[in-house]
Amino acid sequence: MTLDASRKGRRRQFNKERRNVRWEGIETDVSTILNKEAHLNAVLITGGAGYIGSHTAKAFARSRFTPVVLDDLSKGHSCAVKWGPFVKADIGDYVFVREVVRRFHIDAVVHFAADAYVGESMREPRRYFQNNVSNTLALLGALLDAGIRYFVFSSSCATYGIPETFPIPENQPQFPVNPYGESKRFVERALWWYGEAYGLKSATLRYFNAAGADPEGELGEDHDPETHLVPLVIQAALGIKPWVEIYGTDYPTPDGTAIRDYIHVSDLAEAHVLALRHLMDGGESTSLNLGTGRGHSIREVIAAVSQRSGRHVPAREAGRRPGDPPVLVADATLAKHVLGWRPQFSDLATIVDTALRWRVARSPEMNLISSESMMDLGVQAP
Ligand SMILES: NC(=O)c1ccc[n+]([C@@H]2O[C@H](COP(=O)([O-])OP(=O)(O)OC[C@H]3O[C@@H](n4cnc5c(N)ncnc54)[C@H](O)[C@@H]3O)[C@@H](O)[C@H]2O)c1
Repeated sequence: MTLDASRKGRRRQFNKERRNVRWEGIETDVSTILNKEAHLNAVLITGGAGYIGSHTAKAFARSRFTPVVLDDLSKGHSCAVKWGPFVKADIGDYVFVREVVRRFHIDAVVHFAADAYVGESMREPRRYFQNNVSNTLALLGALLDAGIRYFVFSSSCATYGIPETFPIPENQPQFPVNPYGESKRFVERALWWYGEAYGLKSATLRYFNAAGADPEGELGEDHDPETHLVPLVIQAALGIKPWVEIYGTDYPTPDGTAIRDYIHVSDLAEAHVLALRHLMDGGESTSLNLGTGRGHSIREVIAAVSQRSGRHVPAREAGRRPGDPPVLVADATLAKHVLGWRPQFSDLATIVDTALRWRVARSPEMNLISSESMMDLGVQAP
């Protein structure tokens, strides 16, 4: 055998092994999973092993789509993928993404996969521009070359920076104040130009603060490290963390703490189904805020967790974090108008109850919460 031939042989073997490993677990019965006989549309959900992506996969399955999850598990959990095939891969792998689209007859893509910590983005902007911009552009290239025409994108209220008015409408100028927001803003602009040049139809969804857990208790929020307020307050209530930090108590708000618009993750999930239907039914590309239009201060969230859990929440006051605006509340009328979206679970009590129920049900700390509160939450005692 010549050197070249043996090299080729090794490469073929390498590719075969690589493919076998990466497709492991999904080779089984692609055709039955896809259930083409039932004429289900297949939607690729990048980042579908993560918090919002996994809830969205459930919402798509319920709406008679086949959700195919692609996630590299850098932050997600394979156990959160329950409603369709799972492919472990990086969105930046052009060749592999094209193959996934072909193999699973993907009709549309919902793109969650990203790094999403504001503070980390200030320290490591390279990581954010690499993953959220560069990898997303590679993904978009593969999708366009594979003939995908519909794309729903997870954007963020972080693209607005320090807003000029409240509540924030979609046409508010976007001047992000951190690399995370900048990376999302860049992809928003790319989508606009890709629509002009290639006819890609896109829905950009700018979430405010996602919170809560699946009301049926099948999914929840499990980040490491956790940076979101509701799970952090719950951890302090359950004694998993000694206290929760309150960043800034001198804001120009009624109780001095920052105000955010908390939107239940299942309501967010439903908005993605509606957004994709909007595009597939011939609707125009659009950018929409997903929030409730109501804000809650940090102290209000702490009080709600304390009340719903029946436990004192230890809290420690700390200084403001740079780049944290005092108030971020959505003007959410456009999403209601364009999509007919009506949040069902986004009142603070339901957000806290669902998050608490999920956390308590999977924690050995269950005995830390009063049995009356557990019964109220519908959690079975161990
Ligand atoms: N959680 C919020 O409040 C919030 C608010 C605004 C916007 N968003 C956006 O929503 C999306 C989902 O957020 P989340 O809270 O569910 O985050 P998450 O970290 O739980 O989920 C992101 C998922 O993407 C995966 N991923 C990351 N990089 C990848 C890559 N290169 N290839 C394949 N998979 C990759 C991770 O493993 C993870 O499962 C993100 O784009 C985020 O920026 C979230």
